[in-house]
Amino acid sequence: MTKLLTAITVAATCLIVAPAGAQTYPSRPITLVVPFAAGGPTDTISRIFAARLGTSLGQTVVVENTTGAAGTIGTGKVVRAAPDGYTVLIGHWSTHVVNGAIYPLTYDLLNDFAPISLIASNPQLLVAKKAIPAKDLKELIAWVKANQDKVSAGTAGAGAASHVSGVYFQSVTGTKFTFVPYRGTGPALQDVVAGNLDLMFDQAASALPQVRNGNVRAFAVTSKTRLTSAPDIPTVDEAGMPGFYIAVWHALWLPKGTPKDIVMRLNAAVREALADPAVRSRLIELGQDIPATDQQTPEALYAYHKAEIEKWHPIIKAAGIKAE
Ligand code: MLT
Repeated sequence: MTKLLTAITVAATCLIVAPAGAQTYPSRPITLVVPFAAGGPTDTISRIFAARLGTSLGQTVVVENTTGAAGTIGTGKVVRAAPDGYTVLIGHWSTHVVNGAIYPLTYDLLNDFAPISLIASNPQLLVAKKAIPAKDLKELIAWVKANQDKVSAGTAGAGAASHVSGVYFQSVTGTKFTFVPYRGTGPALQDVVAGNLDLMFDQAASALPQVRNGNVRAFAVTSKTRLTSAPDIPTVDEAGMPGFYIAVWHALWLPKGTPKDIVMRLNAAVREALADPAVRSRLIELGQDIPATDQQTPEALYAYHKAEIEKWHPIIKAAGIKAE
């Protein structure tokens, strides 16, 4: 009888204590870790969500850029953070798919995270400095071939989307050039604007504003259809690289072991953001595809992420893409 009473008391205490934590969540600012440099696509997308999530949650969401090694440093930091809902990670196709095939990671990309939701997906733009005398993609490829010992392309590190896209471009076009790694495509693109780098693949989220301002030239978008917000940029099919489709999807994760009700509180805030017309129009202006509502669940992110790993790891290994 005494044992039974003790068990009931323990169970009752747990019932009282567990929901209390979730009910008061969040009671302090949340950190959103961006594993790439400020000014790049992941940073740009993170800041749109940080502001809107903060409104839904009634707490500030602070963006922290923890950069290096194609996003593996910031990603590893979140894996080791307390699973209490106060450290959230924004990652994407390369941090959560490609890096697993080329880096000896100390974490499991699928199972060391609690997924929150997919948030957006965008194609790459092939951009080049204004001084390059090429009118279209065919002329750009010819110019690269004629100057291949001198041509440089910026990346966010080996394995980043910008790097994998460049390696794919080299193999499809038979070109060679030198990759220059940065801690994110934000600073790399600044060097294309300044004329210190010749070209690069960068996601629409950060490349489009520079194209619109006339600071760099866009030669193709890696999607089947032109972007509604940038109808002048030809698709890869139109420009002469048929089928060269690349979409970089972004998503949010927490460390494994985060209580389900906290995961769902954040998921609800993401859903509110994705339903907000102001957020939607900002994302569309930046060339983003917004996930359908049935894709905005933790389960849908887990399933999609798993399928992407199964699809891409053999391709990346066969392409011989290395961390160095
Ligand atoms: C960034 O934000 O710098 C990019 O997402 C990096 C990349 O090309 O993967």
